[in-house]
Amino acid sequence: MTLISVDDLRACARARIPRFAFDYFDGGAGAEDGLARNRDALRAALFAPRVLVNTDGELDTTRSFLGREWALPFGVAPMGLAAMAWPRADVALARAAQSAGAPYVASTPASASLEALSDTAPNSAWFQLYVGKEARITDDLIVRARDAGYDTLVVTADVPRPGKRRRDLHNGFALPLRLGPRMLADLAAHPAWALATLRAGAPRFANLERYAAPGAGTRSLAELMAAQSSGRLDWTLLERIRADWRGKLVLKGVLHPDDAVRAASLGIDAVQVSNHGGRQLDAAPASLEALRAVRAAVGQGYPLAVDGGMRSGEDILKALDAGADFVFLGRPFLYAVAAEGPTGADAVFAMLRDELAQAMAQTGRRRLQAVGTASLPRPDETV
Ligand SMILES: Cc1cc2nc3c(=O)[nH]c(=O)nc-3n(C[C@H](O)[C@H](O)[C@H](O)COP(=O)(O)O)c2cc1C
Repeated sequence: MTLISVDDLRACARARIPRFAFDYFDGGAGAEDGLARNRDALRAALFAPRVLVNTDGELDTTRSFLGREWALPFGVAPMGLAAMAWPRADVALARAAQSAGAPYVASTPASASLEALSDTAPNSAWFQLYVGKEARITDDLIVRARDAGYDTLVVTADVPRPGKRRRDLHNGFALPLRLGPRMLADLAAHPAWALATLRAGAPRFANLERYAAPGAGTRSLAELMAAQSSGRLDWTLLERIRADWRGKLVLKGVLHPDDAVRAASLGIDAVQVSNHGGRQLDAAPASLEALRAVRAAVGQGYPLAVDGGMRSGEDILKALDAGADFVFLGRPFLYAVAAEGPTGADAVFAMLRDELAQAMAQTGRRRLQAVGTASLPRPDETV
């Protein structure tokens, strides 16, 4: 099959890798209504295309965000255990983002260390922090991120407890992996993934291993990982992190306009409107809808990112039109590496870039315009 869309990549990924691995990243929380809601909101959003704008030649897809000029208005959202999609997926995605001129957010439960990912993508990598149960680990992760040269810290706010992911529970997917007969059959039916994973070693929590007791087995590492979801993060702690972190600080997982306004008032550099890709609270609003409300509350000029459900260049443009300064995508990047291996990471960047340029031309834009104004360029506008 020729892979020409993120939907194709997803279909190919589903066939190529074991079901428990695919479901781990494809699935959402509860009945997966939140997951569907992200897509429904994007499907319902339409453009008001303008015609007779000369869009011949290269279109300008650059975007400035948090003090940097990026070649693209979108990047890779943080994803834990990305190596479930394909071995060394984190490194492949970091490298692809670096060469595309886009941000890559290294996750706390990444399968490669934050130091290695910053070496791989020195101009692109940001670090995403889970504030776990133990302050000593959180504090050390922040110090390590600074020492590794990260200039942007993304604090995730929407995981006070892990989401209830029914697919994982049905599949018996938990760490450490307990290989029952069904899982073994699943592995045998997907030998390319099984062999590649065997060769590379099982997915790890590369940032957290050092905090486990010496000689601790995978079970206690899994417990350590579980302890990275905690309800300890509150406004007081966020203020402390703000005071300690000299670089840019992003608060990810905000859905309520009042929370965004409060974050802005505390000197948080940007808010990332997100429902965690429908993986946490099933009855969360669609990211796109929440974005509109948050933009209305914070006004123009306050930096907002968004993620959740974007699967095409048109979706990215819709999110920008709805008030985002920047867009992040999660699963499409994992579908790509699961479908095509490490080169899939570059391929999906190229695919989304082409689709974005096409959507810009179709809606009559030579460049990405200021936030919230893009869908209806004035007739007299110089484009
Ligand atoms: C497999 C997987 C792992 C994730 N792990 C993290 C994580 O470690 N930290 C985090 O802040 N968000 C995490 N997320 C949420 C993403 O950063 C992002 O909010 C979401 O995937 C966006 O939705 P999309 O996948 O529909 O594009 C994860 C998402 C997936 C799919």
